[in-house]
Amino acid sequence: MDIVCNNISFQLPHKLSITRTRFTYCSLQKYSTSSLIMRKPLIKSLLPKTDHDHREYRKLNPGKFGRFGGKFVPETLITCLSLLEAEFNFVLQDTKFQEELSTALRDYVGRETPLYFAERLTDHYRNEKGEGPEIYLKREDLNHVGAHKINNAIAQAMIAKRMGRKSVVAATGAGQHGVATAAACAKLSLDCTVFMGTADMEKQSSKVLLMKLLGAQVKAVDGSFKEASSEAIRNWVGNLEKSYYLTGTVVGPHPCPIMVREFQSIIGKETRKQAMEKWGGKPDVLLACVGSGSNALGLFHEFINDKDVRLIGVEAAGFGLDSGKHAATLAKGEVGVYHGAMSYLLQDEEGHILGTHSVGVGLEYPGVGPEISFLKDTGRAEFYTATDQEAVQAYQRLCRLEGIFPALEASHALAFLEKLCPTLPNGAKVVVNCSGGGDKDVDTVVNYRYNQ
Ligand SMILES: Cc1ncc(COP(=O)(O)O)c(C=O)c1O
Repeated sequence: MDIVCNNISFQLPHKLSITRTRFTYCSLQKYSTSSLIMRKPLIKSLLPKTDHDHREYRKLNPGKFGRFGGKFVPETLITCLSLLEAEFNFVLQDTKFQEELSTALRDYVGRETPLYFAERLTDHYRNEKGEGPEIYLKREDLNHVGAHKINNAIAQAMIAKRMGRKSVVAATGAGQHGVATAAACAKLSLDCTVFMGTADMEKQSSKVLLMKLLGAQVKAVDGSFKEASSEAIRNWVGNLEKSYYLTGTVVGPHPCPIMVREFQSIIGKETRKQAMEKWGGKPDVLLACVGSGSNALGLFHEFINDKDVRLIGVEAAGFGLDSGKHAATLAKGEVGVYHGAMSYLLQDEEGHILGTHSVGVGLEYPGVGPEISFLKDTGRAEFYTATDQEAVQAYQRLCRLEGIFPALEASHALAFLEKLCPTLPNGAKVVVNCSGGGDKDVDTVVNYRYNQ
């Protein structure tokens, strides 16, 4: 049996066995402990096939969403993840922690963020009869340090502190999670190391400077976000006792995806309350970009059981879905295991992870979270794509019509309004998650326009 570890293939040692979906490690520790990838034929044989299997599977595997999720990690990490899960379950019930978090979200992060009626954008999409949907923006760009990432970073940094950890490691793509983590660590007096791909450091140089000003060490990694993530995990595994791996999105082994989703779900909770105040009902459509899924799940989760609310995620089609240069995991990916969990992934026939491309650097991840994968399989959420060009145009449109710079990641969701709005009834209420601010993307947008 073969195992691929950091894209290097090994024969499985005979002592390694697979118990349902979890690797049991005996003598694999000498190999790197991050990014274990199982070959596709093996994955197929492990998948539950009937509804009954699915139910049994979930009972046995907390952190499973149907066939997705789990803890595909070496045995050496299981204790650490169990401690984290116990702490997470504790703080969810702990009044003192919850009060401290509410205070930080209000006074430090600046919540609640407005649900802004985008009047001119709404007018832009009216048809010749003057009819069309009403468009609202959930202004996560107005959070401290400019994106939704801080909702999760501050909460997890508080957990790290409670667990007695002295240092935090993180990986960042667009720089937003890196800056959010660096800020949270400065506030809580934790050492912070952020791993970032060299190409991303160049594209998001202002974020690198901010991280350094906030006291973080920024470590360059050859490659992009996926390589930075592998490096951060490797660093953490070398120092489990003292260090805390602060994941910025809904990927990784259980409990990482549900922790991030829980801390981002404030976006949807506020949206429900604000919609009720503004128009006395629920939104009809929720729209968010999908990199790995944290801002999308943050908005969607509150409404998952409201079947009358459409949930729409938009992935990055880059130069086009057939170009091979995109990050559209749900559109083009297949099921596999990466960074400790099962989900849709962009991979080749051999199960090797493919490179990604998007003008929105934060969307350049070859996987998506397990819960997002589950929402696709069950059909509860719909997923579409927007190209680089469509996203850049949407960025410019929002600047001109509303005086707001959206992050290029969020611009993918805004781009989909072009296709969505003509199909919606008059007066339908659409909420778009403006997941971050786009001042970081000014150079990219200006150069993109002039180069076309
Ligand atoms: C502003 C912004 N939006 C969206 C994303 C994509 O991540 P996710 O899908 O986890 O929300 C990123 C990632 O860096 C981001 O910075």
